Amino acid sequence: MSECTKIPRHIAIIMDGNGRWAQSRGLDRLRGHMQGVESVRTAVESSLRHGVRYLTLYVFSTENWGRPADEVNGLMALLCESIVKEAAKLAEQGVSVRVIGDRDSMSEKVQEHLAMIERETASGEKLTLILALNYSSRHEIARAIGLMIEAEKQENITVAELGPESLRAYLYTADFPDPDLIIRTSGECRLSNFLLWQAAYSEFYFTEVLWPDFGAEDFDKAVAEYGARDRRYGLITK
Ligand code: IPE
Ligand code: IPE
Ligand code: MG
Repeated sequence: MSECTKIPRHIAIIMDGNGRWAQSRGLDRLRGHMQGVESVRTAVESSLRHGVRYLTLYVFSTENWGRPADEVNGLMALLCESIVKEAAKLAEQGVSVRVIGDRDSMSEKVQEHLAMIERETASGEKLTLILALNYSSRHEIARAIGLMIEAEKQENITVAELGPESLRAYLYTADFPDPDLIIRTSGECRLSNFLLWQAAYSEFYFTEVLWPDFGAEDFDKAVAEYGARDRRYGLITK
């Protein structure tokens, strides 16, 4: 257990570097994704150990459909396989799984697996594991504005009454607090269309470590660094 007292309530992770991990070993990219599933397991265990309440994982972006078909199909198959393998254990550990993103345009098979794991883990109260799948933050924001305009018409709300908190209610993440800490592995320092609105005051942690190599110690290091940060929210330190 880390000695720092400030534990992020919500950690979001951009799990990057699976392809490079595999390619540097002369392996197929899919092997990197398979190894990445091990790191997901470790991240869940670490979150439970630290008492983190929400863990969001960026699993697949809307842009990722543009990759070669064999990689995309392999990723979808791996997702379904991992859900079948992990659902019971997650339920036992008190983890409840939720999905954000445009799930309706995913295959029937994937949709069924997502519904299954959400149902089987629904009573978990220790950790909410949020999977961002077929996710685009810009799409999420545009969709939220559309929904807000619809509601505004029905409820006779005026534009002047709308503020940032009105929009929050229409985001995929309406039920969850904003991420306190956003981790990105593999040395890339960008958001890649992830939680643009929710990240307004998040702390960022970038590491060169590739996602398949990201272990419990790396997780602890990120949490410890978060604990040492001074979050000012535009104010001055007391
Ligand atoms: C992240 O690893 C996983 C997904 C985007 C699905 P990458 O597949 O992007 O790995 P690199 O960035 O090519 O190494
Ligand atoms: C972001 O990684 C998406 C996920 C981790 C699922 P990418 O590898 O797709 O992002 P870019 O292309 O480097 O920005
Ligand atoms: Mg990548």
